[in-house]
Amino acid sequence: MKVSIDHDLCQGHARCWDICPEVFELDEQGHGLVAVPEVPPAHEAKAREAAENCPERAITVS
Ligand code: F3S
Repeated sequence: MKVSIDHDLCQGHARCWDICPEVFELDEQGHGLVAVPEVPPAHEAKAREAAENCPERAITVS
């Protein structure tokens, strides 16, 4: 599973990092970054949950 963030949509809500810090991190402005683009199976459920909880729908799971 892969995740990516659309940086034009991200408004820095930080829920991705809050829910799944194993995969997401924040830049110095508090915007989301993908630390682990190829999500290991053990973290897939939380990464999906993070994507579903992004208020801007900025996270794509594929
Ligand atoms: Fe940005 Fe959504 Fe995360 S707005 S910081 S990708 S929760």
